[in-house]
Amino acid sequence: MQLDGNGNLRHLLTLKNLDRALLIDILDDAEGYLTHAGHRPARRDLLAGRTVANLFFEPSTRTRASFDLAAKRLGADVLNLDVNTSSRKKGESILDTIYTLQAMQVDVMVIRDASAGVPAFIARHVQDHVSILNAGESDVSHPTQGLLDLLTIRQHKGGFEDLIVTIVGDIRHSRVAMSISHGLATLGVGELRLVSPPPLAPEPESVPGAMVTDDLQRGLDGADVVMALRIQRERIGNLDGIPSIDEYFASFGISQEHLAWAAPDAIVMHPGPMNRGIEIESAVADGPQSVIEQQVTNGVAVRMAVLDRVGRVMADQ
Ligand code: CP
Repeated sequence: MQLDGNGNLRHLLTLKNLDRALLIDILDDAEGYLTHAGHRPARRDLLAGRTVANLFFEPSTRTRASFDLAAKRLGADVLNLDVNTSSRKKGESILDTIYTLQAMQVDVMVIRDASAGVPAFIARHVQDHVSILNAGESDVSHPTQGLLDLLTIRQHKGGFEDLIVTIVGDIRHSRVAMSISHGLATLGVGELRLVSPPPLAPEPESVPGAMVTDDLQRGLDGADVVMALRIQRERIGNLDGIPSIDEYFASFGISQEHLAWAAPDAIVMHPGPMNRGIEIESAVADGPQSVIEQQVTNGVAVRMAVLDRVGRVMADQ
C-alpha cells in the first residue's frame, strides 16, 4: 500500500515493510539536504505548484515545524490546519475534512492522530495522486522520526551491524520506539535492548529479537547508542505500578552516573519533547555525548527527502 505499482514510495505509513535499499536511499537523499550550521538551508523547487497540508490532531513542535520547513524549502504551498478552530470541532468526520482538502487540490497530507490506523485508513480513501505521510500514529508508528534517528546513528557510527542500541523508558506507549526498532531490524542492528519498568515494557511480540529488561545497568552495559524516552502519560489510563518521578529517575533516568555503564563513545539520543530530571539529566542532555539537537536538524532533511520522493511519484503521473 505504501508503494505504487513501480515500487516507488507513495505513502509513508510505517517503516515495518520498507526494504533495506529504500531505507538507505532515503537516508542518502536526506544527507544531500544537510548544510553546515550558519549556511543557508538547502532549497529545491521540486514541489513547486504542489500543496502540502499539515493536519496535526495531537500536539507537536518538532515534527510539525520540520514538515512545514521541509515543504517550503522544496517550493510547495503549505497549509497548517489549526485543529482547534477547524470544523472537526463541529463534529465533521476526519474523512470529510480530508475530502474537503482534497477538493482544494492538496497533494500531500501530513497527519498526526491519537488513534491507531488513521493514516492507513485515510490512505485507502484518497485519490490516486494524493500522498499520506504519517507524522505520529498513537503508540503504533512515527516513521519519519525513525528515519531521522537512523540517520543520526549512521552519521556517528557509520553503520548498524556491530552496534548495541539501548532504548530506555516508556517503550510500551512509544511510537518512536516501534519505528526505530523496525528500521534497525531491517538494517541489521547488532543488538537492540529495551529497558523499562515492567508496566511500560513492550508487548512481547511487538519487537521480536530485542532484549527486554527492567535492569538499567544490564541494558546499558557497553551500549553504543542510548535513547531516552519520556513517559507518555497521555496514553496511560491507569498509573498503578508506574514509579514516582524520583524512583523513576533513580532507576531509569539517563544520568552521568548511569551513562558511564555504556561505551565511552556512546551517543545519547532523545526524540523530544524531553522531561529533564525524569528520563534524562540536563548534564547528559546538554553534554558532549548528546546528539539531540542533531536529531532535530536531521528531521528537516529527512522530511525533505520523503517529500521529494512522493513528489517524484506525482511528477510521473
Ligand atoms: N519527536 C516528536 O515527535 O516531537 P514533537 O511531538 O514535538 O513533534
